[in-house]
Amino acid sequence: MLVLWLGVAISAAAQGTRRDVGRLYQELCANCHGADLRGGQARSLLDEDWVHGSGDDATLFAVIRDGDELNGMPAWKNALSDEEIRALVIFIREKAAEARHAATRYAQPRPDQVADSRLHRFRLRLVADGLATPWSLAWLPDGTLLVTELPGRLRLVRDGRLLPGAVEGLPPVRYRGQGGLMEVALHPGCATNGWIYLAYSEPGRDEQGRDVSMTTIIRGRLRGLRWTDSEVIWRAPLWSFRPGNIHFGCRIAFGPDGCLYFSHGERGQGQDAQDLRRPNGKIHRIYDDGRIPPDNPFVGRTDAFPSIWTYGHRNPQGLAFHPETGELWETEHGPRGGDELNVIFKGRNYGWPVITYGMNYDGTPITARTAADGMEQPVVHWTPSIAVCGMDFYRGDRFPRWRHHLFVTGLASQELRRLEIRDHAVVDQEILFKGIGRVRHVATGPDGFLYVALNRPDRIVRLEPAGD
Ligand code: HEC
Repeated sequence: MLVLWLGVAISAAAQGTRRDVGRLYQELCANCHGADLRGGQARSLLDEDWVHGSGDDATLFAVIRDGDELNGMPAWKNALSDEEIRALVIFIREKAAEARHAATRYAQPRPDQVADSRLHRFRLRLVADGLATPWSLAWLPDGTLLVTELPGRLRLVRDGRLLPGAVEGLPPVRYRGQGGLMEVALHPGCATNGWIYLAYSEPGRDEQGRDVSMTTIIRGRLRGLRWTDSEVIWRAPLWSFRPGNIHFGCRIAFGPDGCLYFSHGERGQGQDAQDLRRPNGKIHRIYDDGRIPPDNPFVGRTDAFPSIWTYGHRNPQGLAFHPETGELWETEHGPRGGDELNVIFKGRNYGWPVITYGMNYDGTPITARTAADGMEQPVVHWTPSIAVCGMDFYRGDRFPRWRHHLFVTGLASQELRRLEIRDHAVVDQEILFKGIGRVRHVATGPDGFLYVALNRPDRIVRLEPAGD
């Protein structure tokens, strides 16, 4: 009885913190700052002209919590939790970005149209269409482009033409929600050993008979359009498979140390990301044949998965080594707000879901904590979210002023971004185009062009220089 009563009390208290941020704003703030945040009896919250400090997150948080009563801004600390105040800061950022985007004209190049950008003019050339949710790209040593399609097919583009068939003999994937066939990557020695790696959501059934799935890595070789010599390189134990069809991660990158690094999303189970006994919500490091390198950080512990390299990740969908420093960079799809760019260091905790710059999709808060001891900070976070997906450092020579810049994709924001990086900081960001489809992945081709996988409509395009 007591337990029952406590349960009710706790859930009621939890309910109290689950108020939608948009409603909170309309009820408590709109009177003074305007229903559209553009100001009324009090100032606009969209013009990015702040009276309090530089308008950084911490200052806005403090003004909302403690108020500025002498100047007419009430204190909200008794009416709102810290989590709700954090959610209001995110909400203000979202509305400000919406206003900024509405006032900006972005390049929306049609095929063969020239687009301008700060460092290079470029043209988007159609490489292939008629694909179904192209997810990732890799090139065979002979220049053939391999494309994964989320429904479970591997396609080939050869001599500028999408071959009609798909590769036969691939294992079944669970194509539901965000799951399916995702990553394709080549062994650095593919020219001699022929190994091609795939990452996908593998279907399973747990002891209660529920459909579950998890990220699995295989490798094999291509003989014509047949997948041969298939081997499972990494598979989670069945007990750890999760129901639902979100957050698989699934990006692969081979390191300068010859090891295979791959990202594994937390499968919608935030707490798993902090649990070293579970493989989800982690970045893993294995040898090319799946063995565990003995210098992995959690090797030898009974309470940890030996392949784990880092933990505390939500849905890392971009992974690439910096061409000069050899450091591993990662993009991580956050909740509503809090998309991240991280540098990945051995054994570290990247914080999800204990710290985050985001809130829940329904506008309820997750936490007020954006930093904590022992947890890494992102290099940048995108709040509001751009729905960050794949990324790549540009390694070609067709765009000399873009060399080693980082290109980052956005799904919901439908944008391709160029980031200039110095040490561990982003010193410049530019949106190269926006609004011509969901941008899923970007990769430097062996021909030095920059290839982009777009969804809705589904196609592959490449950026070509258009004279400066
Ligand atoms: C009774 C009117 C009133 C209400 C209600 C109100 N504000 Fe304010 N707010 C103000 C005024 C006036 C200022 C400017 C204070 C100043 O000039 O120092 C202000 C300042 C701010 C600032 C700082 C702006 C800057 O330029 O530094 C933020 C952020 C803010 N309010 C957010 C909110 C939020 C969020 C709510 C709802 C929870 C809210 N306000 C409700 C009157 C109000």
